[in-house]
Amino acid sequence: MRVGVLTGGGDAPGLNAVIRAIVRKGEKTYRDEITGFADGWRGVLEGMVVPLTSEGTRGILPRGGTILGTSRTNPFKMKGGPEQVEATVARLGIDALIAIGGEDTLGVAQKLFGRVSVVGVPKTIDNDLSGTEVTFGFDTAVQIAVDAIDRLHTTAESHNRVLVCEVMGRHAGWIATYAGIAGGAAYILVPERPFDVAQVCESLLLRHQKGRYASIVVVAEGAQPKEGSMVVQSREVDEFGHVRLGGIGDVLAREIRQRTGFDTRVTVLGYVQRGGTPTAFDRVLATRFGIAAIDAVHEGAFGQMVALRNAKIVRLPLSEAVNSMKTVDPELLEVAEVFYG
Ligand code: F6P
Repeated sequence: MRVGVLTGGGDAPGLNAVIRAIVRKGEKTYRDEITGFADGWRGVLEGMVVPLTSEGTRGILPRGGTILGTSRTNPFKMKGGPEQVEATVARLGIDALIAIGGEDTLGVAQKLFGRVSVVGVPKTIDNDLSGTEVTFGFDTAVQIAVDAIDRLHTTAESHNRVLVCEVMGRHAGWIATYAGIAGGAAYILVPERPFDVAQVCESLLLRHQKGRYASIVVVAEGAQPKEGSMVVQSREVDEFGHVRLGGIGDVLAREIRQRTGFDTRVTVLGYVQRGGTPTAFDRVLATRFGIAAIDAVHEGAFGQMVALRNAKIVRLPLSEAVNSMKTVDPELLEVAEVFYG
């Protein structure tokens, strides 16, 4: 078969491991010809092909990012976009597509199913896809954040400071919760629980009264105060309607400084969380997803996505996978709360 592969949405460590697995098993077991498309759905719209071979994908397993490039292009935002995708696939003689992406990329795949034969592979550092226990990219982002938080502890202790660490995660608090628990944060703020800044400050004052002069507060970029609304970098939206989040860390630090008098600083981890080499966990999960995706193509399991359930790789309809966002388990938030104050 001739199989097309695309990577869409925010990049994540592990994408190249998926590509490598698809190519290796596709060529070795199925004698497939694998064609990459550059820059997500834009590459399919415009026919921007990147030939993929086992030889050409040697050495990409530990490499972050995606050798195909990615974008947030949405064919349904363009007049005749879906038809153009269908035409490209037909013109190039592509029998099936494997779309690797988050809710947006897989949402497009689900809507295109019927026009094209497509299998989805879930990807996002946010871990907010309901259909799978975890997505590759998440473990790496958490590890990057924890390494940073470990470093923030020593400088905060040296200066008796409160350090606010803003992490990614869009509208879910998975990265903040995992990194906050693993990093020993004094407080963790997530979109799932709009926060009362007075309560945060009370907790920090209590800590400092006990003589612990340094606190790390981890805040997810999508977290918001009870009374206020989300803090965004700009009102502009991408082709899937997402605003650019970010800035809550500054707002929070200012409030803490004003209300407690503590010397407070901010670190925004930003795109560092998406860069560089994937952890071993993400390399293995991404490889398993890639193998399962090419197997699904050959079993005709189109309109479905591979996923992780009870440590096993399963398949489920794309419609199920992209319909609802997976938010942080309240049990995890209760674990974090034990260490506040
Ligand atoms: O979805 C992954 C993610 O990194 C989010 O955590 C973040 O809010 C968003 O992408 C940033 O999007 P962009 O890369 O388009 O700035």
